[in-house]
Amino acid sequence: MANPSLLILPGDGIGPEVMAEVRRIIDWFGENRGLTFDVSEDLVGGAAYDTHGTPLHDDTMAKAQEVDAVLLGAVGGPKYDELDFSVKPERGLLRLRKEMDLFSNLRPAQCFDALADFSSLKKDVVAGLDIVIVRELTSGIYFGEPRGIIEEGNERVGINTQRYTESEIERVARSAFELAMRRGKKLCSMEKANVMESGILWREVVTEVSKGYPEVELSHMYADAGAMQLCRWPKQFDVIVTDNLFGDLLSDAAAMLTGSLGMLPSASLGAPMSNGRPKALYEPVHGSAPDIAGQGKANPIACVLSFAMALRYSFDQGAEADRLEGAVETVLAEGARTADLLGEDGVEPLSTSQMGDRILAALSASI
Ligand code: IPM
Ligand code: MG
Repeated sequence: MANPSLLILPGDGIGPEVMAEVRRIIDWFGENRGLTFDVSEDLVGGAAYDTHGTPLHDDTMAKAQEVDAVLLGAVGGPKYDELDFSVKPERGLLRLRKEMDLFSNLRPAQCFDALADFSSLKKDVVAGLDIVIVRELTSGIYFGEPRGIIEEGNERVGINTQRYTESEIERVARSAFELAMRRGKKLCSMEKANVMESGILWREVVTEVSKGYPEVELSHMYADAGAMQLCRWPKQFDVIVTDNLFGDLLSDAAAMLTGSLGMLPSASLGAPMSNGRPKALYEPVHGSAPDIAGQGKANPIACVLSFAMALRYSFDQGAEADRLEGAVETVLAEGARTADLLGEDGVEPLSTSQMGDRILAALSASI
């Protein structure tokens, strides 16, 4: 059997630095666990624009369609702020999501015990937190037409459209119910059915899909109330399913519950390929962090945990994913901290590669 294939797109800002640590971890699995991947690397975002004049070259897009999984670092940076909207770094990522049809974006927010003190919320609110936001990723206001900036009378009007078909809602709802079945069997759907027709339809379709999952306890919340409940008592949730824009906002909020945006991985999954595995792209929830890029300060854990999700969802290696997540938990429990995980108390933070060293050491100690 051919080795599973992995396309790595480090991207911009801290993307290349955190991805370098993941490359070492991938090599470790090859050398120590007999898990060898065919790894290829390519450009996305500003890096692709600098070389090709487009944030995603067609050849890269084609490669992404062929591999078993894509692992992406981050895109964007101030250098590209003035670029035309159509070639902004973010367009590369959005094209990948859209053309690979990655409609189900899993964003876990898990609070590691060792970091419970670090959250801006009280420890008892976040300790032991383990929730997943399922964000619809290929439709809604991110892609809806009409869109644009038009002239109307003597002024300009900015337009974006929230649009969801029943089938788009149904497939993401189904993936959220499936996930809830494998977890705590609780699903909360968030929309704004009080002000948006798309929200009314969302609620109806999710309710319809729930009939196929009688074991899952379904609830509905307006997304604004959901944001409030996420900060008030996040442990009331197990799985949350929501649209593209609300999911973007709620997942950043959920990320901060865990102490740092530098900790959170994500998996974007599409329909099954011929091998039965879903089309998939894995990426940290954090952005390119241009303010610290190139300084070796970035926390590689979100990207490392994104690879763990790839092991679990694309490569059927749940036990090895557990091993990698366990290694991260171990080093955090031992006190390993990058700068984002430290207060102002004068403790010397680990560099990106030192954190990588520690995770590799914990992996080696695990076998
Ligand atoms: C995310 C990011 C992206 C989004 C940007 C980079 C396009 O914020 O993945 O959450 O808005 O979806
Ligand atoms: Mg976001």
